[in-house]
Amino acid sequence: MDGLEVRAYRTSDFPQVKEILELGNLYWALSDNAESFRKQAEERPGSILVATVDQRPVGTQIVVESFLPLMFRLAVHPDYRGKGIGKLLLSAGEAYLKAKVPQASTPK
Ligand SMILES: CC(C)(COP(=O)(O)OP(=O)(O)OC[C@H]1O[C@@H](n2cnc3c(N)ncnc32)[C@H](O)[C@@H]1OP(=O)(O)O)[C@@H](O)C(=O)NCCC(=O)NCCS
Repeated sequence: MDGLEVRAYRTSDFPQVKEILELGNLYWALSDNAESFRKQAEERPGSILVATVDQRPVGTQIVVESFLPLMFRLAVHPDYRGKGIGKLLLSAGEAYLKAKVPQASTPK
């Protein structure tokens, strides 16, 4: 898809990321707030992924490598679903985890 990019979360993305999570019924205020995202992005750069189309955030995914390698909060804005953005976010999350935890692998 033209103009599609996956990059690390920036604090200015919060309103759009929150909306994307809400639209996907994945928003949980206790953990998904601006401060916790800012802290995670600072401590683990690249662990909150944002898909953008022409610079506009349209999807997100959170990855953690602490206790177990985990990918969660995968959500794509309803207007942009079915275009491969979810798959792209999953591949980016997998690449992040493989770099951090070389023995991590996803089920085939
Ligand atoms: C799930 C979600 C992220 C998929 O994003 P997307 O950009 O539309 O996904 P893609 O276009 O990359 O599709 C990837 C594949 O997943 C399939 N798929 C998409 N949504 C699906 C769903 N809800 N259930 C089952 N399969 C699904 C697609 O058919 C496609 O399969 P294909 O390659 O064989 O055609 C999106 O539907 C969403 O945000 N849903 C609400 C939040 C959610 O349920 N998140 C997952 C749990 S954390």
